[in-house]
Amino acid sequence: MDRKIALVTGAGSGLGRSIAHRLAADGFDVAVTDIDETGGEKVVAEIAESGGQARFLRCDVTDRASIEGALSELDVVDVLVNNAGFDRPDFFLNTQPQLWDDLIEVNLKGVLNCTHVIAPTIAQRCRETGFGRIVNIASDAGRVGSMGEAVYAATKGAVIAFTKSMARELARDRVTVNAVCPGPAETPMTEGIRQDQLGEKMMDLLVMVTPFKRMVAPEEVADAVSYFANEEARFVTGQVLSVSGGLTMSG
Ligand SMILES: NC(=O)c1ccc[n+]([C@@H]2O[C@H](COP(=O)([O-])OP(=O)(O)OC[C@H]3O[C@@H](n4cnc5c(N)ncnc54)[C@H](O)[C@@H]3O)[C@@H](O)[C@H]2O)c1
Repeated sequence: MDRKIALVTGAGSGLGRSIAHRLAADGFDVAVTDIDETGGEKVVAEIAESGGQARFLRCDVTDRASIEGALSELDVVDVLVNNAGFDRPDFFLNTQPQLWDDLIEVNLKGVLNCTHVIAPTIAQRCRETGFGRIVNIASDAGRVGSMGEAVYAATKGAVIAFTKSMARELARDRVTVNAVCPGPAETPMTEGIRQDQLGEKMMDLLVMVTPFKRMVAPEEVADAVSYFANEEARFVTGQVLSVSGGLTMSG
């Protein structure tokens, strides 16, 4: 059979970069997509260097035409990883509606846009091959809430609910849809958060209340995505897996 194709959004940095690396090591042809061309091309070069197959496609998850453009460059898609997202911590009552709109636009609507545009291709392919996967990167903030990240947490909670709904809707095509919830991870996003006082405090506090007393390594998130994206997880759908050293423990 042809090699399987995995498309990862926001793959030019942080968790997306590690996910792209891991899926390439798993044997997928990886479409590294991002708005950051330099970061994306760098990840493609790294994957090529380690013997994997990858290509960069510019894709802004807030722009349907951009997603359609990326998809048109690919023959098929077997796996979609909705990873692109951002955070800008502040107490909710200090935030302005523009920030809410931006967070909703990227973190929630980005997932809706990519799923709406790409899932039909995955479903069609899955009807032929029996293999199709969607993995959404949510957050522990979306499971239990998070001080200083109210709207971010709201978008991630919505992504979790969307994951479960789509798992039901796409089951008839045998496409699985699952969510991975990282705890605070060592990425450029959290480096940025640490630049201000509230962010620094928030990160330190989160590590303090994490049973394992450290942040998540991006590779640990990629391991969980790899599980959902591979054959072993064929009967696992609508599930939410935290990778956070015990920060949250949901029943
Ligand atoms: N780092 C953490 O602690 C943490 C914890 C929980 C969840 N997450 C989630 O993991 C995902 C990745 O976060 P990260 O820490 O790797 O961040 P990051 O900032 O390191 O990387 C995010 C990538 O997304 C890209 N991006 C941003 N807007 C985009 C858009 N409109 N279209 C396409 N790409 C876009 C950026 O260019 C960047 O390359 C996000 O959804 C984030 O909410 C991160």
